[in-house]
Amino acid sequence: ARITFQPDKAKPISNMLTGIFFEDLNYAADGGLYAELIQNRDFEYHPRDKEYHDPNWNSHYAWLLKGERATLKIDSVSPIHPNNPHYAVLDIPHAGASILNTGFDGIAVKKGETYDFSLSAKLLNTKKMNLEVRLVSDQQGILAKSTLNITSSTWKTAALTLVSSADAADAKLEIVMGNPGRMAIDMVSLFPKNTFKGRKNGLRADLAQTIGDIHPRFVRFPGGCLAHGDGIANIYKWKNSIGPLAARKPDRNLWGYHQTMGLGYYEYFQFCEDIGAAPVPVIAAGVPCQNSATGGGGQQGGIPMSEMGQYIHDIVDLIEYANGDVKTEWGKKRAEAGHPKPFNLKYIGIGNEDQITEVFAERFTMIYKALKKSHPEITVIGTAGPFFEGTDYEAGWQIASTLNVPIIDEHYYQSPGWFINNQNFYDSYDRSKSKVYLGEYAASLPGGNRTNLETSLAEALYLISLERNGDVVSMASYAPLIAKEGHTQWDPDLIYFNNTEVKPTIGYFVQQLYGQNAGEVYIPSTVALSSNQESVHKRIACSMVKDAKTGDLMVKLVNLLPVSVNTSLDFNQQQLGKNTVKTVLTGNPADKKAVPVTTTISTDATRKLELPAYSFTVLRFKAK
Ligand code: AHR
Repeated sequence: ARITFQPDKAKPISNMLTGIFFEDLNYAADGGLYAELIQNRDFEYHPRDKEYHDPNWNSHYAWLLKGERATLKIDSVSPIHPNNPHYAVLDIPHAGASILNTGFDGIAVKKGETYDFSLSAKLLNTKKMNLEVRLVSDQQGILAKSTLNITSSTWKTAALTLVSSADAADAKLEIVMGNPGRMAIDMVSLFPKNTFKGRKNGLRADLAQTIGDIHPRFVRFPGGCLAHGDGIANIYKWKNSIGPLAARKPDRNLWGYHQTMGLGYYEYFQFCEDIGAAPVPVIAAGVPCQNSATGGGGQQGGIPMSEMGQYIHDIVDLIEYANGDVKTEWGKKRAEAGHPKPFNLKYIGIGNEDQITEVFAERFTMIYKALKKSHPEITVIGTAGPFFEGTDYEAGWQIASTLNVPIIDEHYYQSPGWFINNQNFYDSYDRSKSKVYLGEYAASLPGGNRTNLETSLAEALYLISLERNGDVVSMASYAPLIAKEGHTQWDPDLIYFNNTEVKPTIGYFVQQLYGQNAGEVYIPSTVALSSNQESVHKRIACSMVKDAKTGDLMVKLVNLLPVSVNTSLDFNQQQLGKNTVKTVLTGNPADKKAVPVTTTISTDATRKLELPAYSFTVLRFKAK
């Protein structure tokens, strides 16, 4: 293949092209990225959180009681906060009884690491209660212990630290009562001290780091469907997710579990800042997910018009919470949470895959116009509606064009063949209309093994077409991002994990290579092949981008053919440094594992380059 770059035809493209979409799906938040190790810490689990109303999924879930005639009852009289109404009452006739929490599939601890334990307690018929707090393992016995005295008859928080003496994946938290008595407990918590960037109420360090290593330019959160709920009562309300943990309002997660809201808007904003990504919160357009009401007693249709004023007010308050001065009502709350400086919010998504009905249009228009008026500095991202093969996004785009919505969110989950055959998807998009945010996409195969090298290369190939169309496609994010093994409601995902391991897929490395090699100037190229077959032409693609800051040039080359391809690259007098960093991701198409290999080669050697069969190659040329 002869590849000729055309620097004279360079054009500016989006500097936000690749980012991530974090949805609380697949135990992504509680039991996942949120580092809390105690499951059902607030005793708020409820059968309705689970599909088919599982009666075992209740306030006792994940808790065990040990001790003769000891009882654990759930009460709701005078709770710590009305948003968190249930708590446990322990009646202990004999010293030595204990309550244990089994965590999310066990608690994983590491030798020598410190864990922060805390609980809220009040004594009910005794003057004191001596507690011994332990980490215990069935295999290895007691791994850590420390003592605590409860002396208050009103709700009070007590805390201690534990250092584990061994690695264990099966640990439990045990609270042993040192004397008889009756005591209420709530908000029982155990965090590793070593959270991501050492944040309090923080994130799991290994998982957060793996996500940060993608170098995403933005983070869309907290969902998709999760943000919209499966009925208006289940729409995610950001105000329920901030402030002291006991005052946050837990909710049913429409994916079939419980949201503590411990990972809430403050933590999302903080995470974005910590990884250098722009926050992109998604707010329901006044209608639930795809305007449906499939479970949980949600109401069909949209938020009543009489309540839309308050609903819009809440969105405006979010902007104040993120960006407002510390003297404003909501800016003050941000400062009290520990972040007086603004979070620099620039984007808000309104809507997600909504059916473009009158109910939607009316509410979206109201929200859009109100935000445009009160906060013209915020870029609103609208929705194109659901995409099914054979249909298009016409109705969603009509609203966007009428209102001049700056960016529209499109989604599609397709086969690798679809991505290979649709690289021209955006070539003919009208550049005078809204820009595009490809908010969700993934290439997958039917059956059990849904991703492999081939699906990942199809994504790499398609991303080349997004760079080429980076003047109209502003942003793109693979979906879903993370999934906990054994608790996955949506497959495939970019990163799998369990309590001790993080397992990036091959597609992860594709995202990372784009994140690490992004540019805001696109330099077109022509690819001349000796074959005339269309199918051959579709399986080889190339792009060149330039990082405006460093002047570095980055070339991406995908070869999805079953044979290697010899290329000759003509840089057309562009000034290149002497050496080039070359990264290659390759293997057999059905491989489930492959990692990129990076070497430094002379720039001269890149002029005649062999692209292995089934490969993604990235060349990074330092500016001269
Ligand atoms: O990414 C998983 C789901 O797919 C999202 O919640 C939704 O927007 C889409 O249907």
